[in-house]
Amino acid sequence: MSRRITLWILVTVMLAGMLVAQERGGARGRAVRGGAMRGDMQTWLGDLEAAYNQNDRDKMGQLIADMKQRSQRMRPGMGGPGMGGPGMGGPGMGGPGMGGQMRGDGDSFFNNKLMSKDDNEKKILAVLDDLDRNQRRGMMNVPVLDGRLLRLLTEAVGAKYVVELGTSNGYSGIWFGLALQKTGGKLTTHEIDATRASLARENFKKAGVEDVITLVEGDGHENVKKIKEPIDILFLDADKDGYIDYLNTLLPLVRPGGLIVGHNINEQQADPKYIEAITKNPALESLLVHGQVSVTLKKR
Ligand SMILES: C[S@@+](CC[C@H](N)C(=O)[O-])C[C@H]1O[C@@H](n2cnc3c(N)ncnc32)[C@H](O)[C@@H]1O
Repeated sequence: MSRRITLWILVTVMLAGMLVAQERGGARGRAVRGGAMRGDMQTWLGDLEAAYNQNDRDKMGQLIADMKQRSQRMRPGMGGPGMGGPGMGGPGMGGPGMGGQMRGDGDSFFNNKLMSKDDNEKKILAVLDDLDRNQRRGMMNVPVLDGRLLRLLTEAVGAKYVVELGTSNGYSGIWFGLALQKTGGKLTTHEIDATRASLARENFKKAGVEDVITLVEGDGHENVKKIKEPIDILFLDADKDGYIDYLNTLLPLVRPGGLIVGHNINEQQADPKYIEAITKNPALESLLVHGQVSVTLKKR
């Protein structure tokens, strides 16, 4: 069977799964969700087709894993987000709305809608919402819920120094920036692609988080060797087969009680060597959250 046929069978099965899940979700909110969902699917299919044409297996893997995660979250009774449409929230309501890719709220029993505590937070959440709705294509950003998790962890550990590998257009970086403004910390984020790096700089300014973020352009593997300070959170979201190298170089710098967070830790994308390193070391405690985010504690 040709690769193209295999790909389209996979897409069809996933679409069918999503439709069944949506049907099970009942009539409530279906009309609102429908438009946003079609838009999401078109974006997703476009991205998948582009990745296929470029023979970019990493990106195809990520897109497929994201879609699997989404269809799981759409199952009723699982406490995950719905697929709400635009107009159900948005900046005017104090934070990201419910349209676009994956919202952290919806019609489940756990309606954990984003709320802003003050005007600054409201402004940052509005920029994140805008990036989520309008800049996601080709940027491989973390889903909204994973961004919210990064913010929560950063504030919770009172992080003073966060290192991110894989800036893209700065979406996850802004989530860190939001938290670091509150903890008095800073982020150094590494990006190899000049176009995405320049977009990230613009986005950091738009969100007003540029003061707490340093973007280092170039190969992260080389540049992280220059880091000397203790790290509170290390976030890995760049080249997947490079996670083990980043971990080996930077683990000694992660402070006891600090975290190593890995994105796209799923069967399609994760390097088994990385999984082994974070799950077989007695000095570490690792959990998988949201089906693809490994959160590893460096024990005290
Ligand atoms: C999944 S995206 C990052 C998404 C971003 N964390 C977000 O959620 O907005 C991965 C990024 O890592 C970058 N990248 C890949 N290899 C890299 C390397 N060796 N050094 C630095 N960046 C790299 C890619 O150019 C890409 O922009």
